[in-house]
Amino acid sequence: MTFRTTAGALAAILLATTPAMANGDPLKPAGRWTLPERKQARTPPMGWSSWNAFRTELDEDKVIGAARTLVDSGLAKLGYVYVNVDDGWWLKRRQSDGRLLVRTKIFPSAALPNTDSSFRPFTDRIHAMGLKAGLYSDIGRNACSQAYDLHSPNLPEGTTTEREVGLYGHVDQDIALYFRDWNFDYLKVDACGINVYAPGSAVVTQNNYRPFVPLIDQTSINQTDVPGVKALYDDVAQALARYNPDGDYILSLCTWGSADVRRWGKQTGHMWRTSGDITPSWSRMLHNFDSASTRALYAKPGAWNDPDMLFIGHGDFDEKHLTEARSHFALWAIINAPLFIGYDLRNAPASLMNIWRNADIVAVNQDPGGHQGVIAYASDDAQIIVKTLANGKKAVAIFNRGMAPVEVNLTAAHLKFAVDAPIRLRNLWDHKTLAPFTGETSFKLAPRETLIFEASGDRRLKDGVYLSELPGDVNVAEDGILVPEPDPVVHRMIGQWSGTRDTGERPTYAGWGGAQADATPYDQMLAIGGRHFDTGIGILSQSRLEVRNSGERGRFEAIVGIDDSTRNTQDRAQFLVYGDGRLLASSPALAFGDAARPLVADTRGVKVIELVVRTRSKKSGMPIVATWGDAALR
Ligand code: GLA
Repeated sequence: MTFRTTAGALAAILLATTPAMANGDPLKPAGRWTLPERKQARTPPMGWSSWNAFRTELDEDKVIGAARTLVDSGLAKLGYVYVNVDDGWWLKRRQSDGRLLVRTKIFPSAALPNTDSSFRPFTDRIHAMGLKAGLYSDIGRNACSQAYDLHSPNLPEGTTTEREVGLYGHVDQDIALYFRDWNFDYLKVDACGINVYAPGSAVVTQNNYRPFVPLIDQTSINQTDVPGVKALYDDVAQALARYNPDGDYILSLCTWGSADVRRWGKQTGHMWRTSGDITPSWSRMLHNFDSASTRALYAKPGAWNDPDMLFIGHGDFDEKHLTEARSHFALWAIINAPLFIGYDLRNAPASLMNIWRNADIVAVNQDPGGHQGVIAYASDDAQIIVKTLANGKKAVAIFNRGMAPVEVNLTAAHLKFAVDAPIRLRNLWDHKTLAPFTGETSFKLAPRETLIFEASGDRRLKDGVYLSELPGDVNVAEDGILVPEPDPVVHRMIGQWSGTRDTGERPTYAGWGGAQADATPYDQMLAIGGRHFDTGIGILSQSRLEVRNSGERGRFEAIVGIDDSTRNTQDRAQFLVYGDGRLLASSPALAFGDAARPLVADTRGVKVIELVVRTRSKKSGMPIVATWGDAALR
């Protein structure tokens, strides 16, 4: 149906909003915050993991040694409490009853009489130190090491089925064992088992594994069975909830940014990897950072973008490269990445300890507001990332991505501070406060340097806050993406495994077109009818945002319209604001080129505001780019 007249459009709007139509309508206001209110991971999880330190060559001394250092050095007090055993811990799946056996040669405390095993003494010890314990598994039958670490002394042993140590077909049994019996607090669930064990593949035939028709194709979102992958992880999430009635657990999804996990990870787990594995290379760090840094609106308390664990202490981030190591840390901190140390903590030099132990930077990451930093300035040379803190101040990271020194101008506008009032910056590396500036200041950055400050000043919006300053209070319930497309704005490095033998890495992580803070879904500047906005939410039509009105602000306002960058210039879209499920305000169906329209809603007493954009005609099948310009709560 197409609407040519305003009257026709209005009639259609009335029809479309009758309750009868609402059934099965994803844009129907939910009237509540629909993400699970998780007890754990209210701030990004922190701790230590064996993987980047030891790969599969871990053992109990190494893990307990790390735990001891966390406690003795004060790191645990700062929040580094999860001690995670990654791949390599298992011996086999016992065939008489399907029980997983621990490789007691490397975890001696797990040995029980009669060849049985239990991690309970290990987790008891970790818990007695005031820490929490994490374990690793795979969503398929086989794990990653069984394909990629074939030289490892710690691969599962035995027959084909004894070596099937992953969760597939054993979810209830394994989760009961890991959480009810062994008392773990955290589970990372990898995905190699549903990715690299294709029928007829060399790894399957040479190692006598049972083949698994891949659900994930890491190079093609179109060939990935997204609902199939999600269903497997949802099954694990449900088992975890069953065996952890107190809610004290974390589920870490490890599909390496594939399977459109950006969209559904927040519903299923506490954190989800946004990219392939990090390596100790600057270029790879950029790749992993970029995979998470543009997705601020998808992270929030209980649900975090995970660009992978820290690689500080190795390669480009070792003791001889402290500038790079500090940058890696500051960047992970400001985008609310989980902070997992991946270094042999039994022998860590003070220079590295002082990075992980920087309480001011950890506090930025762990700020209770849970707002991921938003990119305020972007280029391939330098970036400025600004994060709203719960106390109304800001953290700002100024990042030199390249090998040349750069000069960076930091403006009040980047910080959303008033241009005519003094702004104070406290350097979180040397803890010194700089002389105040008004309007603008500048910094010279060494190659690969990141400066990070706490910023205080008068807010530009004196009596309120812009919505894009509060990504932790926004849930992108529907983002309007019709067909997932790979995100082209992620740094692409020379293949760490293939070199330049192939044609180079192509965009792989779906997410292009996802809702953005202060940019359109395709990374353009927000603009309606020729008017530009430096703040707002960019999203596609057929979308629904839930906004937690935790501050109980009395008024929502925005200037709305079809964005000037839209490819669909033929169709109209309507903007609607709901409060706890009730329609509070709506625009007419707006067309491309129409002037920006103010939209104001009285949100007094409202707990959840919902912002819906509905497509109101169907001349083109293309998505419409919609802009909530200057969207604010006052
Ligand atoms: C995958 C994961 C890594 C690590 C290894 C273990 O590659 O992405 O983080 O857990 O498996 O084999």
